[in-house]
Amino acid sequence: MNTKRLTIAVSALAAALMCGCARQDDSRVKMITEATFPPYEFMRGKDIVGIDVEICRAVAQKLGREFSCETVDFDSVIPAVISGKADLAAAGITVTEDRRKNVDFSVPYVKTGIVVVYKKKDGFAGPDQLKGRKIGVQGGTTSETYVLEQLKQEPDRSRSPAEAVAALKSGRVDFVIADIDPAKNCVKGEADLAISDFITSEEYAVAIKKGRPELLKAVNETIAEIKADGRLAKWIAEYTAESDKLKDK
Ligand code: ARG
Repeated sequence: MNTKRLTIAVSALAAALMCGCARQDDSRVKMITEATFPPYEFMRGKDIVGIDVEICRAVAQKLGREFSCETVDFDSVIPAVISGKADLAAAGITVTEDRRKNVDFSVPYVKTGIVVVYKKKDGFAGPDQLKGRKIGVQGGTTSETYVLEQLKQEPDRSRSPAEAVAALKSGRVDFVIADIDPAKNCVKGEADLAISDFITSEEYAVAIKKGRPELLKAVNETIAEIKADGRLAKWIAEYTAESDKLKDK
């Protein structure tokens, strides 16, 4: 084989290998999440499970593709779909105008909001009571934004709602702000702690890289289907019960 032929053969082989890899990657629907957020996503042993995982698995099923899921810190979840590392970001992600600048959102699948976790002995009369106090939040969340923008102060950032609540118990912070469901999970079995009414009104949706209309359509159709056929309600009930039980252990 002369040099020219060899070069052609080698580049053909390289192209074939690259194609192979690309095809393999494309065959899976890759979800990215942050799995300290029961009942939406939490660890069952080594497995990531929860409502959001079921939603994304249903999207993969609809597309007839394999499914995989990975967990990272919450502030790396949206960047992972922007960079193309993942296809679907689902992590109890609240739709916000700021995030909308960087990603597309599916139709919402849950209406919810954030609450204040407080010590019963301190009580909680309303958001005015939070001013100037030490507030724990999970970093990168709408709870962090609330402290920065509404209270105009720096929050104490933790890597999970449970870690923030541990800081409340140890006295490092005076209050915690978190989404209602993980907050409820954290105070379960804690006789000294309570949660407030909603202090915001938010909606969760799946985040997707901009410019993927077919994927967005598949996610929106899946959400409509799981709402209509009762699967979403069933997952909410089942995973709430399961994560409450984990707390009892
Ligand atoms: N809903 C809040 C937000 O979007 C908190 C979400 C945190 N999710 C998580 N899996 N840790 O900012």
